[in-house]
Amino acid sequence: MRQEELQDLLNSMSLQEKIDQMLQLTGDFYEDADSVMTGPAGELGVSEEDIRMAGSILGTAGAKKLKHIQKNYMEKQPHHIPMLFMMDVIHGMKTIFPIPLGQGATFEPELSRKCAQAAAKEAAVSGLHVTFAPMADLVRDARWGRVMESTGEDTYLNGLFAAAMVKGFQGDDLSSPEQVAACVKHFAAYGGAQAGRDYNTVELSEHTLREYYLPAYKAGIDAGAALVMTSFNTVNGIPASTNEWLMRHILRDEMGFDGVLISDFSAILETVAHGYAKDSREAAVKALEAGVDIDMMTNVYAANLKKLAEEGSVPISLIDQCVMRILELKNKLGLFENPYKGADEEKEKEVILCKEHRALAREAAVKSFVLLKNDGILPLDMEKRTAFIGPFTDDKQIKSSWSFTGDDKDCVTIKEAAENVFDSRRTTYLKGAPVIGADSRLIGFKLAGFQEDAPKEITAEEERQMLCEAIEAAEKADVVIMPLGEHYLQSGEATSRGEITVPEVQMELFRAVRAVNPNIVVVLFSGRPLDIREISKKARAVLEVWRPGTEGGNAIVDVLTGKADPSGKLPMSFPYCVGQVPVHYNEFFTGRPNRKGMQERFRSRYIDIPNAPLYPFGYGLSYTDFSVSSVTLDKEEMGPEDIIRAGVRIKNTGTRSGTETVQLYLRDTVASVVRPVRELKGFEKVTLEPGEEREIVFTIDESMLRFHTEKNGFASETGDFLVFIGTDSTTENQAHFCLCR
Ligand code: IFM
Repeated sequence: MRQEELQDLLNSMSLQEKIDQMLQLTGDFYEDADSVMTGPAGELGVSEEDIRMAGSILGTAGAKKLKHIQKNYMEKQPHHIPMLFMMDVIHGMKTIFPIPLGQGATFEPELSRKCAQAAAKEAAVSGLHVTFAPMADLVRDARWGRVMESTGEDTYLNGLFAAAMVKGFQGDDLSSPEQVAACVKHFAAYGGAQAGRDYNTVELSEHTLREYYLPAYKAGIDAGAALVMTSFNTVNGIPASTNEWLMRHILRDEMGFDGVLISDFSAILETVAHGYAKDSREAAVKALEAGVDIDMMTNVYAANLKKLAEEGSVPISLIDQCVMRILELKNKLGLFENPYKGADEEKEKEVILCKEHRALAREAAVKSFVLLKNDGILPLDMEKRTAFIGPFTDDKQIKSSWSFTGDDKDCVTIKEAAENVFDSRRTTYLKGAPVIGADSRLIGFKLAGFQEDAPKEITAEEERQMLCEAIEAAEKADVVIMPLGEHYLQSGEATSRGEITVPEVQMELFRAVRAVNPNIVVVLFSGRPLDIREISKKARAVLEVWRPGTEGGNAIVDVLTGKADPSGKLPMSFPYCVGQVPVHYNEFFTGRPNRKGMQERFRSRYIDIPNAPLYPFGYGLSYTDFSVSSVTLDKEEMGPEDIIRAGVRIKNTGTRSGTETVQLYLRDTVASVVRPVRELKGFEKVTLEPGEEREIVFTIDESMLRFHTEKNGFASETGDFLVFIGTDSTTENQAHFCLCR
């Protein structure tokens, strides 16, 4: 449709019809449909008429089902306006890729673009039009369960991934039957929740918000994201969903976003609970004034806007603006021409879990794994007697709580993969312990849609029996592979944890096995960085595999056996213990920095634990070794128009081929606002054969030195800079240059 036609359509719509376009409900309001509930499922108080006419639904997929809903809807909709179907396709639709935090560890945004493209294809044939992804929230607190949905603690890296995912989901043409619209979320600063408690208060200075939290959303928006979702939290005292400054001034005016702004699930009504809106009516006014176009799963707009507009308490022009943006999105998706878009039962069979997507999932999983420790036990010697002991040995729940569109049954377990490769005469497979013991509470796991996945209760006797068998198998083995970690319902939304450890029942198993066999390789499943001090000290190798997705088992076996080299790098620091949290590499200097190796009083340090995380951002081992030469600069002084070339030579000094990620960090040594000790500004992944050497050159220009200054907005300041180039964020390999005007 042309813009004038859209305008004519809008002009011909009744006020009620317009308001219904602004309502989004879950699929279970509709005949023959059901939905995954991703929020509180209380009494909504919407009328039958609103349900019939709501402009979009969330949480339901399937070509047949959605075509049926669309047909019925359009027949009843006075102007035959098609409905929008949205869902959380976060890291895959049916083929599940590694969680976004794992994807961050690949340091390969292009790979995430491909994963998002594959996910879009599967989602589109299933009838979906919009995915609620990517999440571009900066995360620094591992207690927060949703860190799994982010690509980590670095603003720059998050921006690259957000942009890549948007491009993958949307492609060049939103009307293509293979693409879906992306929704950048959660605007803004949802990851800044105090104490890592989900939905909690966010208090950030405007400087911190602009400098560290906003850029990744902006990168997703600049990449063309069609939607943005508001966040649940308050930002400096005002709930994001009714925050006019944030939504109109920052998002629309400054960032230039002109797409659809959707609230998070019931977030508009929650402004009443926040104590910001007196009641639902006031919440409606404030959200509309902030420019929120779609109200997800409350009746705030549906119950109030008509009356408010008729009595003149809100201008109809504001409602029209919202509805126009919704119609424009439907138009861009090509729904007026083809309301069923890509929905196709035949294609579903062809595309979903196809060979290419599975191969991509395996590649992404391999590349997401981070080898945290290895004393040489890996890759495995296949001649040895090997025991796989741990609850994830043959567990199909290796997706995440944000991949409910996928099926556990499609996941390949470690055992299934290993049986193809390991000699059955020398290999045993045992669970050893449940994922969660009677001591661990998964509060709230009985959420709608998740009951069946709740850990089964087992008796103390069954637990003891499992442990005895495990000890016996460990005694007989040369090497024990222990797949341990968090239950998948321990990370994701509403899964904040006060203790970020492997469940105690598994630690007991670990200790019992270690007592009889020290040759342990831990394969760690988690949706967040964990406190793994004990494991890290006592195991001979630790491989972090996050929640690896459909091809997890195959990918793990590829890496354990050395068919593939581990190459992932931590996108988020692994704290020494929870007391360090939030911990991130790009902190500021204090006036009394802790001096390495010194035990001084009156310094910024803990008296009982180190300041440094157990494993820092950017860290990850390979099966080979690399040497990196000192940094060379082609000049030591640059003007605003110049560039500096900063280079190193990297050499594979080991005996196997391997991949390393060379990372560039910069430090602005003195500025009008204190600057981080270093910040990631570039990286390059290289694969080298044994003995092979390569020169890596990064180009530094003035734009990379800009920041939110004390007075001049976003600008660089003259002075000295340090350039660090190495293989993780702690590198001391450095050179120095000066920016002059
Ligand atoms: O997209 C999600 C969001 O991230 C959290 N609340 C529910 C939404 C829709 O499922």
